[in-house]
Amino acid sequence: MVGVSASNLRIEPLGEQHDREAFSCGVEALDRYFKGFAAQDVRRRVAATFVLVIGDGEVAGYYTLSSTGIPFQDLPQSITRKLPKYKYMPAILLGRLAVSLKYRGRKFGDYLLVDALKRSLRQSREVGAMAVVVDAKDDLARSFYSHYQFIPLPQIPRRLFLPMETLERSFT
Ligand SMILES: CC(C)(COP(=O)(O)OP(=O)(O)OC[C@H]1O[C@@H](n2cnc3c(N)ncnc32)[C@H](O)[C@@H]1OP(=O)(O)O)[C@@H](O)C(=O)NCCC(=O)NCCS
Repeated sequence: MVGVSASNLRIEPLGEQHDREAFSCGVEALDRYFKGFAAQDVRRRVAATFVLVIGDGEVAGYYTLSSTGIPFQDLPQSITRKLPKYKYMPAILLGRLAVSLKYRGRKFGDYLLVDALKRSLRQSREVGAMAVVVDAKDDLARSFYSHYQFIPLPQIPRRLFLPMETLERSFT
């Protein structure tokens, strides 16, 4: 196995050079998406996919980002009282995030998530987005995002968000 250090990790846009077939994170839906649909979603601009590459090119994880809207009434009042009353609030959807089973528990999830959040913050300076949103697939995913201070939407407990304001404070 390749020795893992920050110097041989990199995150890059999904391309033809990446071996998607060999990837397995243990969650069938996330593996199936990565192997079968991620590349076509990129081509159709439905989602941008970024992969965590290790050493000479092994894919150790991935995440996807897309534009989305959060219905105004789904947000907690503590947030909406500072916002204009538009029907939808612009946001960035972190649709999927997964780490290869082989590399679990080695901070790769953290590396991917921080990269996704920083990228989202940069994007929000060019095209407005007031939060990053995730849909946790199960309780483990939910607890992972809660660990990073994502806030559940009151009406939709599997959907969590992190205000861009919080990211601005954390990363600048
Ligand atoms: C969730 C997942 C991405 C975590 O990746 P990982 O590389 O094993 O996690 P890391 O080693 O980077 O952990 C980073 C931090 O998150 C914590 N963490 C990891 N998984 C967690 C979970 N399920 N619940 C709570 N905290 C979790 C770790 O303890 C660590 O905390 P620390 O920095 O305070 O020590 C990975 O388990 C995975 O791919 N799961 C299957 C797919 C999935 O559920 N994706 C998320 C929803 S789409």
